[in-house]
Amino acid sequence: MDRIRIVGGTGPLNGVIPISGAKNAALPLMIASLLTDETLTLENVPRLADVESLTRILSNHGTDYAVQGKRAGQGSLTGQTINFSAGSIIDTTAPYELVSKMRASFWVIGPLLARMGECRVSLPGGCAIGTRPVDLFLDALTALGAELEVEAGYVKAKSPKGLIGATYRFPKVSVGATHVALMAATLAKGTTVLENVAQEPEVVNLAECLNAMGAKITGFGTPTITIKGVARLHGARHKVVADRIETGTYAMAVAMTGGDVLLENTEVSLLQKAFDTMSLTGLEYAQESTGIRVKRKGGRIQPADVTTAPFPGFPTDLQAQFMGLMTMADGTSRVTETIFENRFMHVQELVRLGAQISLDGQTATVEGVEKLTGAQVMATDLRASVSLVMAGMVADGETIVSRVYHLDRGFERLEDKLNACGAQIERLSS
Ligand code: EPZ
Repeated sequence: MDRIRIVGGTGPLNGVIPISGAKNAALPLMIASLLTDETLTLENVPRLADVESLTRILSNHGTDYAVQGKRAGQGSLTGQTINFSAGSIIDTTAPYELVSKMRASFWVIGPLLARMGECRVSLPGGCAIGTRPVDLFLDALTALGAELEVEAGYVKAKSPKGLIGATYRFPKVSVGATHVALMAATLAKGTTVLENVAQEPEVVNLAECLNAMGAKITGFGTPTITIKGVARLHGARHKVVADRIETGTYAMAVAMTGGDVLLENTEVSLLQKAFDTMSLTGLEYAQESTGIRVKRKGGRIQPADVTTAPFPGFPTDLQAQFMGLMTMADGTSRVTETIFENRFMHVQELVRLGAQISLDGQTATVEGVEKLTGAQVMATDLRASVSLVMAGMVADGETIVSRVYHLDRGFERLEDKLNACGAQIERLSS
């Protein structure tokens, strides 16, 4: 298993970091290709392990894919353009072996049911950051007329006469359940109104893609989405939105080390709340035509409190990185996690680097320290692992992060991007 070695104390980050397409937009967009027998061309697809895994999962259902342009571009930092064509669905079962590896593959339940009238999809099982049930997905599909049965770890879903438009109010905001209900409703008979939906930029990106495929969706980006069902969807070309979590992560890295970096191809509006919070810590930022300039000049990092919330709130996917930043703040901060019940696995690892953090239920209290010291630490999930890399960059000495496969799921060429700005990070293959 690969590890990452970080030499700390290399100083401020300076330069340009290109921001990739968002993993969490690319995955539902790829799944949307199951809704049509024509080709969906996605631009700006990031080169990530999760994208590769989902490509394999979709192939299992009959999706052909082709990367456009030269394969030699593989080493480049720009996104790829990929054609996904699900001319015919050859298998409507999503087996446990595949779904258990990547939760988001459960989302195929929406398009498979809408297009094929039946499917059998494994329940995803447990997860390191929380229990993550699927009740909201099942309730929303039931509201659209699906007949569902949970048996032997699988959801068996049928809609022999097709899905029927309905009004459904989510009792709790869920990104995944919004994606699935939205995809399913595009092919339902009549009008569907989904209330209390997720407003994340990735939901907006999916809705725009579905509209380009011929769907009739309005209200995305607000709490209520209306979908007028159509008989069929067609092919389209669509660009994956910039990764707001990668954007926020590198902005926080600069907040931590100091320096001046242009985060290319991304926008402040994708994560305004996170930028508001980062500016309290001493980070300066400005939207420029090619991206966001982030700067921090000398002085200690200032403490700030955060509470995670659905968009437009502070994203849970930046909570670990923000806590990493607060470990070096000049004072005490509180970090409260409201989305996932177990998303504090990074706390004990940050403590190994010398951070002072105490946990009380869903709130971590971080007493800033003047220095961290390099150590061996373990990545526990995708975002937790990057918080350890950030802390390693400012720690004295060497930090080794093991279980790097978590990072590869969601950060494209992290070490190349940071090293180009002055960090010293190396991958140790074993
Ligand atoms: C998406 O997960 C993201 N994943 C997550 O990113 C992100 O942390 C999360 O949204 C919140 O922003 C992808 O987009 C692939 P949810 P998702 O359904 O859709 C509960 C990362 O690091 N819930 O919005 O699975 C759930 O347990 C990942 O890239 C139910 O109770 O998240 C959680 O507490 C990690 N019943 C809350 O809702 C359900 O049926 C929000 O989860 C569904 C969800």
